[in-house]
Amino acid sequence: MIKGAALSEKTGMHLRPAAVSDIPLLRRWEAAPHVKAAMGADGPFDWEREIPERVDWRQMLIAERDGRPIGFLQIIDPARDPTGYWGAVAPNQRAIDIWIGEPDCLGRGFGTEMMRLALARCFADPAVTAVLIDPLADNVRAQRFYARLGFRPIERQSFGADACLVMRLDREVWATPPAARA
Ligand SMILES: CC(C)(COP(=O)(O)OP(=O)(O)OC[C@H]1O[C@@H](n2cnc3c(N)ncnc32)[C@H](O)[C@@H]1OP(=O)(O)O)[C@@H](O)C(=O)NCCC(=O)NCCS
Repeated sequence: MIKGAALSEKTGMHLRPAAVSDIPLLRRWEAAPHVKAAMGADGPFDWEREIPERVDWRQMLIAERDGRPIGFLQIIDPARDPTGYWGAVAPNQRAIDIWIGEPDCLGRGFGTEMMRLALARCFADPAVTAVLIDPLADNVRAQRFYARLGFRPIERQSFGADACLVMRLDREVWATPPAARA
């Protein structure tokens, strides 16, 4: 009913576009030790330039849990990224960057919820065949997190000064219930 509907809009996990007004929050998050450790030499982002830039190959998103912003998620089309970060990469894929900024929100299942929403966004385009991620080679906890979502290691690859493990989730695996996956 109306009361229930109003409540459901405010509860649970929600992804919304990042706004310029989020920049102080994003700066605080990227300065947090657990985020810095995951970024390697690559960060920080150029928020002032990138957030207002509305381009169709990238989505910069804020995750809100019960109305509280808790983390950041970026989805790009790696083949169309003009920086060429991913090098030679097949078309019709997506690549995700994710972090939870608020330390008290780590390890509570929120990252899994964020990724489920992000993957649904990625695969909503029927042309998308797979999603890529590039955790640092030594970020084994994040790799375990991605593996539980169905990502499989593809290869070690250097991105600038960072040694990373490229992992991929194919559409067929995503569409298969976890219990039925090989
Ligand atoms: C990776 C991350 C998004 C996972 O979200 P989460 O809500 O913490 O994870 P969930 O509660 O859904 O799942 C728990 C798993 O997440 C991973 N995880 C938890 N805390 C983590 C941390 N500080 N760093 C890396 N991975 C972490 C572990 O695999 C954990 O399982 P484990 O307890 O068996 O080790 C989140 O921990 C995070 O933002 N970490 C810091 C930044 C980062 O590593 N981002 C990924 C860069 S590729």
